[in-house]
Amino acid sequence: MARIYLIGFMGSGKSTLGAGLAKRLQYPFVDMDTMIERMAGKSIPEIFESKGEGYFRKLEQEVLFQTILMQDAVIACGGGTPCFYENMEWMKANGLTVFLDIAEEKLIERSGIEKHNRPLLKNKTDEELTAWISITLKNRRPFYEQSAIIFSEDEVGKLTDKVRNYL
Ligand code: S3P
Repeated sequence: MARIYLIGFMGSGKSTLGAGLAKRLQYPFVDMDTMIERMAGKSIPEIFESKGEGYFRKLEQEVLFQTILMQDAVIACGGGTPCFYENMEWMKANGLTVFLDIAEEKLIERSGIEKHNRPLLKNKTDEELTAWISITLKNRRPFYEQSAIIFSEDEVGKLTDKVRNYL
């Protein structure tokens, strides 16, 4: 049984790398944001807009707990998932945690992509975005770094091998 939780900041490539990893391992790929949207019947920006971040974080945890029913799956978490409630402890106890550790500059560079789908990024000027990413990444790192595997971008292409060593 292997439940693989992919962790990392927005724009770290959890969906892209996760889908590739799942294909190579022949596991299903699951995106938690998509599960949340299905459960709520609303898009992530709509949930933030109508009910606020606190409500979103509760849904997020509910969806995380549902992943216990999945076996042999690659699960892409939202960027904030490990940093709320006891979610990180729970993931460590119930699966293999993998942190995609992408350089801050690259995350800033990519932050313009799909900004409209990411309520925490939208309505920020470039300067605000850079400052927000820097502070938030600093606050989140202690959670992310508890992962069993820390994968840096210079290892691209080796993710599957690295994960396989732990299965
Ligand atoms: C969030 C990241 C998003 C999504 C939500 C909040 C965050 O997921 O869960 O907008 O707090 O970093 P991605 O990391 O998949 O973009």
